[in-house]
Amino acid sequence: MYTILFAIAAYLIGSLSFAVVVSKLFGLADPRTYGSKNPGATNVLRSGNKKAAALTLIGDGFKGWLAVWLAIRFGPRFGVEDSGIALVVVGVFLGHLWPVFFRFVGGKGVATALGILLALNGWLGLATLVTWLVIAYAFRYSSLAALVAAVFAPFYYGLLFGSTDGILLAIVAMSILLIYRHRKNIGNLLAGKESRIGDKKKAQK
Ligand code: G3P
Repeated sequence: MYTILFAIAAYLIGSLSFAVVVSKLFGLADPRTYGSKNPGATNVLRSGNKKAAALTLIGDGFKGWLAVWLAIRFGPRFGVEDSGIALVVVGVFLGHLWPVFFRFVGGKGVATALGILLALNGWLGLATLVTWLVIAYAFRYSSLAALVAAVFAPFYYGLLFGSTDGILLAIVAMSILLIYRHRKNIGNLLAGKESRIGDKKKAQK
């Protein structure tokens, strides 16, 4: 019973779209109307406002971290076990992708996934972040960096914990959803049309 409540709370926390809220606070256009039309930090960066992009990144990452941290910290008191934490992971991620407060039009989950992984285990989050940074630095494609990091994250978990459990399944589900949400980016990458980090607003298919 409490497990379901934790998962619902996580979904609601995940439903706070910082790209939309921060853009509004900064008087910027709604990120769902330009660039890739994705409410995420990479697209907010295309507005040219680095502060707004950084705040979006921090906010979307923090909500993922917070939901999982709350479940790990307080869940056991309410009988929430590892399988419940796995549900919270999926809950907050689904909230970001399909937010109830924003007509279910959400982002692609990169910052939120990072926050989630950091809350699960610092080394897990760090290894995934370093993977993202290396690919982003080498190729300057945010999406490619996210895709590679998403593929590696479950393996990092396996290496760190050496076992298959509900949390690993949740991470695999998160990676699959993240890759699915990047299907347009994958098409653009293959067609050589993906915009690179630092490119300003331009229409993308
Ligand atoms: O954070 C999402 C990123 O991987 C891709 O974003 O706006 O280029 O589709 P975007």
